[in-house]
Amino acid sequence: MFENIIQKTEAFVKNELGSDSTGHDWYHIERVRKNALYIAQTEKKGDRFIIEMAALLHDIPDEKLNSSKEAGEKKLLEFLYSLELDQEAQKKIIGIIESISFKGGTKTDLMSIEAEIVQDADRIDAIGAIGIARAFAYGGKKGQALYDPEIKVREEMTEEEYRKGKSSSIHHFYEKLLKLKARLNTETAKNMAEKRHQYMEEFLEQFYHEWNGQS
Ligand code: ADP
Ligand code: NI
Repeated sequence: MFENIIQKTEAFVKNELGSDSTGHDWYHIERVRKNALYIAQTEKKGDRFIIEMAALLHDIPDEKLNSSKEAGEKKLLEFLYSLELDQEAQKKIIGIIESISFKGGTKTDLMSIEAEIVQDADRIDAIGAIGIARAFAYGGKKGQALYDPEIKVREEMTEEEYRKGKSSSIHHFYEKLLKLKARLNTETAKNMAEKRHQYMEEFLEQFYHEWNGQS
């Protein structure tokens, strides 16, 4: 029965996200699912079915992919209610997706182990080689520069400058990507992040070398 529900969910998500090119395509979902299940297995924690369902559905209510926040939530709820799931499982899955899409960045005390694992898996996919590729894909879609040395990093901007919203994909590394390693919940994810974090540091170093006309 669980297998059938997973298959239905997979088909639903593929259909909803298939053509997205802002970094939320089906293969992002597949990587998050794989990483989440790997973390759960290594940590020997969490309910695997709940984790897999939440990983599959985590981007469905994302504001960027829906006409409004409410429309996104409705889409998630309608789908979940169409499945033969008990209420407790429904509540758990919704709770995870709500807590990980909260963009505050700081860990809330109320997160379940399943939420911590899915959040880690989502964050792992935003760093390393894949994270670099996603940042530039997102930046291209938004029409922002690869890099603009004139733009200050967020910490050095005034509120007004920030509101004007100018950024570059390289800036996104300082605003978010390089901070993710320290925000992970599980030891397994922290281990996975080491190599990926270092790879981003090396990428930036080489990027500036080439930017300045060095080999
Ligand atoms: P998440 O999947 O964690 O919710 P987002 O929806 O914020 O991430 O973004 C999707 C992808 O686009 C991520 O890989 C993220 O790093 C990247 N991204 C988000 N904002 C920017 C930005 N301003 N510049 C470049 N890349 C971005
Ligand atoms: Ni995601």
